Amino acid sequence: MYKILRRDDLVSNIHLFKFDAPMVARKAQAGQFVVLIIGEKGERIPLTIADWDRDEGSVTVVFMEAGKTTHELATLGTGDSVLGFSGPSGLATHVEKFGTVVCVAGGFAVATVVPIARALKVAGNRVISIMGARNKELLFWEDHLGAVSDRLIVTTDDGSYGRKGLVTEPLKEMLEGGEKVDRVIAVGPSVMMKFCSKTTEPFGVKTIVSLNPIMVDGTGMCGCCRVSVGGVTKFACVDGPDFDGHQVDWDLLLNRQRAYLEQEKESLERWECKCRSGEEV
Ligand code: FAD
Ligand code: FES
Ligand code: MG
Repeated sequence: MYKILRRDDLVSNIHLFKFDAPMVARKAQAGQFVVLIIGEKGERIPLTIADWDRDEGSVTVVFMEAGKTTHELATLGTGDSVLGFSGPSGLATHVEKFGTVVCVAGGFAVATVVPIARALKVAGNRVISIMGARNKELLFWEDHLGAVSDRLIVTTDDGSYGRKGLVTEPLKEMLEGGEKVDRVIAVGPSVMMKFCSKTTEPFGVKTIVSLNPIMVDGTGMCGCCRVSVGGVTKFACVDGPDFDGHQVDWDLLLNRQRAYLEQEKESLERWECKCRSGEEV
């Protein structure tokens, strides 16, 4: 069992859990993920490693309540445990001295971009970060990302904080204004990563995205996380999750992510109903 050492509610539906997981902490690197299972009747869900402490033996994840499993996870607190917490899985984000790197993060992914931006800074890059959310209430860790960036731009869709608009707008302005950008790393919802890639493509700026297809085993055996990159089939759990955003078949990814929407809705409704009636879930 893996104990939750600390729970923090970052915003209403995004939570931070620090787990006691020394074996994972020992090898964790920026861009990798864990596969978590709450209990023996639960499903496996991948979550990106947001932080780790090798001395303490802890690994931190930040998750957004999306459906049944993440809602159930959000009912746990400090001192509770989960059955499985395996990893680190996937390839670490490639870090070297590129020059100027723009890190773009949307939603819960602000937490997962922080260790990437930190590693890029340590490698001697100039890091410009852009973080965005729908509104002010959904923003968190502006201070954390700011601390590992040379410049930070914050956007909200409704203009309730920072600059009004989408994260792609300052990115486009930067490129149109002739800012020398050597690489873009975009992490967040697939649509956001797709449009970041579309924004940088005409300027020929290499853009790395962290793909999040549905995963089951997370070890390259089930084929569930199949994506197409440059016309070649890849398994995101072992060949990624980072890929060249200009080469990704976004339509395939978006369609496959929606494959079980009906069942996912049903599963959440059944779980909520059981919770209301006090039945064992
Ligand atoms: P469901 O209702 O079952 O699903 C909601 C949506 O989430 C689905 O429509 C589908 O697109 C996606 N999803 C469902 N099951 C899976 C699955 N087994 N694997 C991947 N996606 C799924 N979310 C975070 O909040 N924080 C993270 O750090 C994070 N990191 C991720 C890293 C990777 C490599 C991947 C692939 C996904 C990551 N996700 C992360 C997404 C997270 O795994 C899903 O939100 C979660 O599995 C949804 O489960 P659910 O039962 O709550 O929702
Ligand atoms: Fe099964 Fe990647 S999740 S092959
Ligand atoms: Mg689910």
